[in-house]
Amino acid sequence: MKIVVIGGTGLIGTKVVSLLREAGHEAVPASPRSGVNTLTGQGLAEVMRGAAVVVDVSNSPSFETKAVRAFFETSTQNLLAAERAAGVGHHVALSVVGTDRLPESGYFVAKLAQERLIEQGGIPYSIVRATQFYEFVDTILDAATVGHAVHMPSALIQPMAAAEVARAVADVALAAPLQGLVDWAGPEALPLARLAAQVLRAKGDSRELVVDEEAGYFGTRLEAGSLVPQGAAQRGSLRFEDWRSLQ
Ligand SMILES: NC(=O)c1ccc[n+]([C@@H]2O[C@H](COP(=O)([O-])OP(=O)(O)OC[C@H]3O[C@@H](n4cnc5c(N)ncnc54)[C@H](OP(=O)(O)O)[C@@H]3O)[C@@H](O)[C@H]2O)c1
Repeated sequence: MKIVVIGGTGLIGTKVVSLLREAGHEAVPASPRSGVNTLTGQGLAEVMRGAAVVVDVSNSPSFETKAVRAFFETSTQNLLAAERAAGVGHHVALSVVGTDRLPESGYFVAKLAQERLIEQGGIPYSIVRATQFYEFVDTILDAATVGHAVHMPSALIQPMAAAEVARAVADVALAAPLQGLVDWAGPEALPLARLAAQVLRAKGDSRELVVDEEAGYFGTRLEAGSLVPQGAAQRGSLRFEDWRSLQ
């Protein structure tokens, strides 16, 4: 079947496209690079023609509060309208575990708005919420760096490999719509500060680690469990050290 992958040129998107093609499907990556822009609507009607499923793994180029909100709201509205017109039968989106628990974060508020639009959009849907990718951990450390010190709280994180996130998204895309959410997390939860210490040590990075409960996460205060699943969740099996040894 034809499956359009919005954001199919990104970290998760390229992997999802490969997995769907390996399973024998016509996976079509769609993004500004291929002339499809969900923000402006450019190319959407054309790419949707004949599609049974749409997978949205796009991301906002800007994380600034207003820009990211405009991206996820406008893009999702444009996408759902194009899907309705084309008779698409399943909309799959990738979101983040904890999206509904971090109201001070512009990014998470925008992801929650995306989820709500999908739930109310009238297209059968599935939302996969994943925890932070291993590939994103360096960015988390850099964002928490002040001078030569990394300031991290001891709130928990349960990261996972992008390859396992992509596998979860592809599997969901090939199954019946969930009409709901599924949470995915990595094999182990650990305090952000401990993860940061491990990464700095493993890389011989000379930045000092400061355990700082007031330190935010991209500007947001965290409770101990803000970033990890609170209820039932699927678990990836690749551990962080094993993933690192494969890089
Ligand atoms: N980072 C994490 O740890 C994490 C954790 C859980 C969930 N997520 C979610 O995972 C999703 C994918 O993240 P990622 O890291 O794979 O993203 P990424 O590598 O930054 O890729 C972003 C993709 O979005 C596309 N895009 C940007 N603007 C677009 C537009 N106007 N119209 C259509 N496509 C557009 C890009 O296309 P071009 O290549 O053409 O620019 C690219 O294919 C995001 O929704 C994010 O919320 C992330």
